[in-house]
Amino acid sequence: MVHITFISNGGKVATAPENSNLLRVSLREQGGIPFKCGGGLCGTCKCRIEDGLENTDAIKPKERKHLRPEDFEAGYRMACQTFVKGDIKVSWVVENGKGIVVGVAPRGTAGAPAAGSPAAESPAESA
Ligand code: FES
Repeated sequence: MVHITFISNGGKVATAPENSNLLRVSLREQGGIPFKCGGGLCGTCKCRIEDGLENTDAIKPKERKHLRPEDFEAGYRMACQTFVKGDIKVSWVVENGKGIVVGVAPRGTAGAPAAGSPAAESPAESA
């Protein structure tokens, strides 16, 4: 069994058989990785393997349509295309109504950061 830590979901840990599909584990265990198509088309499931990148399988051609070489170097994968061979820790972009907050969603906060808080940068506003 492998352990998958969903960093952007409060560090929730799930176990799964070796060579499990990352998005499927997320769905089954309510890990929280965002998705739409489940088939490598939309790019929604983009996530970052923060630890254990060596425990993921080879990059698929479909991933290369959404991610650049430097993204792969930084640990980004598409969850629906990624199979897990050992323990990993994964994070992803958490979207809210105003913009995009990268990183860990604080436990117990069920929404966007308060307006004006330091975490609530709004790059969408800048032209
Ligand atoms: S869910 Fe659409 S590309 Fe992975």
